[in-house]
Amino acid sequence: MGHIVVRNLRKEYIDRRRRKRGSKKPDECIGNCVLVLDDISLEFQNGEMICILGPSGCGKSTMLRILAGFDSASSGTVLINGKPVNGPSSDNIFVFQHSSLFPWMTVRQNVELGLRHMEDKADMNEQIQEYIEMVELDGFENRYPYQLSGGMQRRAELARALAVNPDILFMDEPFSGLDFLTHLKMREEVVNMHQFIGKTVVLVTHDVDDALLMGDRIVVLSERPAHLKLARELDFPRPRNYEKMPELNGLRNELFFILGVNYAI
Ligand SMILES: Nc1ncnc2c1ncn2[C@@H]1O[C@H](COP(=O)(O)OP(=O)(O)OP(=O)(O)O)[C@@H](O)[C@H]1O
Ligand SMILES: [Mg+2]
Repeated sequence: MGHIVVRNLRKEYIDRRRRKRGSKKPDECIGNCVLVLDDISLEFQNGEMICILGPSGCGKSTMLRILAGFDSASSGTVLINGKPVNGPSSDNIFVFQHSSLFPWMTVRQNVELGLRHMEDKADMNEQIQEYIEMVELDGFENRYPYQLSGGMQRRAELARALAVNPDILFMDEPFSGLDFLTHLKMREEVVNMHQFIGKTVVLVTHDVDDALLMGDRIVVLSERPAHLKLARELDFPRPRNYEKMPELNGLRNELFFILGVNYAI
């Protein structure tokens, strides 16, 4: 189950670098408050693919980290399956904005991390192989991350996350740093993976086309302090196509406009 409710979420960071060392005056020790998320309320249904868009620095990663329990909210609540989030959980797996494979482990060992608790080792090896094949990395099991291309590293991260069989997969810009064609291919793979496993996926992207071609729901955040600019359900069949779905094209223009781009190609 991966039902998420966010109510009146607020997050502010205190910029501690502004603190004066050794100062006795209390007001000089407080630091500047940076309001990042400002009263965000959302609800995501079980099994949905949610795509979060917003300008750089607006608080997308912060929001994802709070949903996944890696960071705490200043106020407001996050409920997953009706229970408040109190910290990271193996039911909710996070794929980070920057590569997070362990460089001293092979692809197989990285994927094995999520399955090492399994007692039946034959069963475990079979599952590892299944996830490696799902992301088309068979033949590369014994390679180290530095021996893989950027796209292959991203796929290995995906296999490692999927192997844990989480209820919710949080992905922070999983396609960043990939070349154009690899990005398109990875996008297709994530859509296929989502249709296959049917789990809730919350994905942050800066790419409007990712959101339109992948999402069951699109969330757009404003500039910081981020508030909700748009939260819309998308009911278009997949694979999606701008030429065959003119409404999708209209929504694309609307999204660019909301994001402050008046002329998009
Ligand atoms: N640990 C922290 N301490 C203080 N400020 C922080 C911290 N983490 C993030 N911030 C600030 O919060 C704001 C939002 O950061 P965040 O990483 O969530 O943005 P983002 O929308 O993910 O940006 P990008 O699209 O560039 O990844 C930024 O202004 C950042 O400086
Ligand atoms: Mg980010």
